[in-house]
This record gives sequence, structure tokens and C-alpha cells, in this order.
Amino acid sequence: RVYVFALDVGVDRLVAARVGLGGAVLDRRETVRRRGPFSLEEVVGPLAAFARQMHRRTRPDTVCVGVAAAFSGGVAQSDGVVRFGPNMGSVDVPFGEEMARRLALGLPVTVGNDANLAAMAEHLRGVGVGCRDLVYLHGDVGVGGGVIAGGALLGGHQGFGGEVGHMVVNPQGRLCGCGSRGCLEAEVGERALLEAAGRFGSQVGREAVRAVVSAADRGDIVAQAALSRVGDWLGLGVANLVNVFNPEMVVFGGMLREVYLGSAAQVRSRLNLDALSPSREHLRLRTTALGDDATLVGAAELAFAQVLADPLEV
Ligand code: BGC
Ligand code: NA
Ligand code: ZN
Repeated sequence: RVYVFALDVGVDRLVAARVGLGGAVLDRRETVRRRGPFSLEEVVGPLAAFARQMHRRTRPDTVCVGVAAAFSGGVAQSDGVVRFGPNMGSVDVPFGEEMARRLALGLPVTVGNDANLAAMAEHLRGVGVGCRDLVYLHGDVGVGGGVIAGGALLGGHQGFGGEVGHMVVNPQGRLCGCGSRGCLEAEVGERALLEAAGRFGSQVGREAVRAVVSAADRGDIVAQAALSRVGDWLGLGVANLVNVFNPEMVVFGGMLREVYLGSAAQVRSRLNLDALSPSREHLRLRTTALGDDATLVGAAELAFAQVLADPLEV
């Protein structure tokens, strides 16, 4: 039996787990992270402590560390350097190297984009098993995505591919953390939804998003209008992706799961207007099967891929 440590560096949480071959998540530990610019110390410290605790409690059968991070920079690149995250700041920080040094367990550390890895996880272990062309949309504070084309993750020239959250859907729209205007992230992200619902402020995060969706279910017209506005932008984003990639399935994860469930009619009607009819006819819209563990399972897959490709490490 072999295991890996999977770590998830999100904008407002840090998660660590031990994961077995096949994606079994064991011994999950989580702590909140204060939103704002990233520093190596505040992220590496708690995650290294989690991994060292887990390592002490188990036999030395953990062979690698995979990290999913809310930074652009992809799996293909895998030099462990995190580059830029609109909600995290920082450019060119040698995160993987520092993580390996602080862990001091002699384990290789490999780093990928959170949404790319979650896409891979849904494709290999989740709702997209058997589906070779899939687009995954992930929403937390930021909106990200991963494109699986012909069974492979689309990484782009440098591994920054699949940044679907920064696809511009509304050029006159809301300012995005990346500096641009009207990105999908700016129009459908947590902040956009909460502001449209008149609820941005005291409460943020997944619970706040769920509260908007259930208020809409109970007939709250402000919440309904907010969801329908956000659902319309989400549908436009999906329509563009469908026209470019002709996926068999689009999967909504993170807070976009809730948003999609609360605005499915809007998303569908936007698709009917803007997606080419042959590609939309056989399209399946689904929500994540792995839920909040999608990024962790993806990080684990990345780690397993690394060690299995190099038998010396096993
Ligand atoms: C970042 C992506 C990330 C996404 C979700 C976006 O703002 O650009 O790299 O995948 O947020 O965390
Ligand atoms: Na991505
Ligand atoms: Zn942007």
C-alpha cells in the first residue's frame, strides 16, 4: 500500500490529507486562512505541521506530496513555483521547494493549479469517469477551471491553460482581481453573488452562498434576481466553453455547485441562445461527485503520477 499527502492551498482555507491509490481520503485536517495576499510562512507552516503529524502516526508508506494551489501555473510545468493568483498576490514564489524543505521528510513535492487538478479528479474518480472531453468549473473566492480534451488535461504552453475564470464575458462589467473587467470570476464569483443579493459584508464563504440559494428557494425576490443574473453570466461562460471545446460534460464544483443548482434554468436558456446547437444537444451538465475533496483527490493523483513515473521513488 502506498499513500501520498495531498495539500490544498485555497484563498480561505488550508487542507491536508493522506490519500490512498484510488482516491481514498484519510485523516483530513483543515484550518482557515485569512483572505488576502499569500506569504510562504503562513501557508507552509500549518501545512507542514499537518503533514508531519500525519507522518508520525503512520508507517513510512507515504511516498510523495501533491499540492493543489489557487494560483495559475499548471500540472505540466510542475516546477513547484507558484506564479500569480488574483486573490493571493505573489509572483514566482518557490513554494514546492520551501514546502519540501519545511517538511524535512525527504519526500518530493509537486504543485499544480487547484481547478486543473479538481478537473482531473472528476475525470478519473468522480462524475466524469469514462468521459474524455470534460470542462470543470470551480468556484471558491476565485473561479477556475480545468479542460480535459481527449482524456488529457489541457495545460497550455507554460501550464497556465484552463484559466477559464478570466475569460471575459462582460467587457463593461465588474472589476476582477486580475486587473481586467468582466471576467467570469468577477461576474459569477462569491462576491458578485453576495453583492447582487445585498448580502456582501459580515458573512462570506460557502455558507453565505448557500443562504442566498435557500432564500431564493423560499421565494426571496432579491435572492432570486441575484441568482438569475449570476446564472445568466455563468451560462454565457459555459456557452463559450462549449463552442470552443465541445465537451461531453460540464461539471460545476466548489461554490459554483450551489450557484448552478440555484440557477440551472438560466444557465440552460443562455446555452440555448449562445451555444451551437450540435454541441449543446448532447451536453450533460453535472455537479461535482467529489465535492470539497475534488482538489485534494486531484493533488493526490498528481503526486501518484509523479512517483509512478519514477520507480526509484517508490
Ligand atoms: C485563479 C485560478 C484558480 C481559481 C480558483 C482564480 O482566480 O486565477 O488559478 O484556479 O481562482 O481558485
Ligand atoms: Na485552471
Ligand atoms: Zn480576471
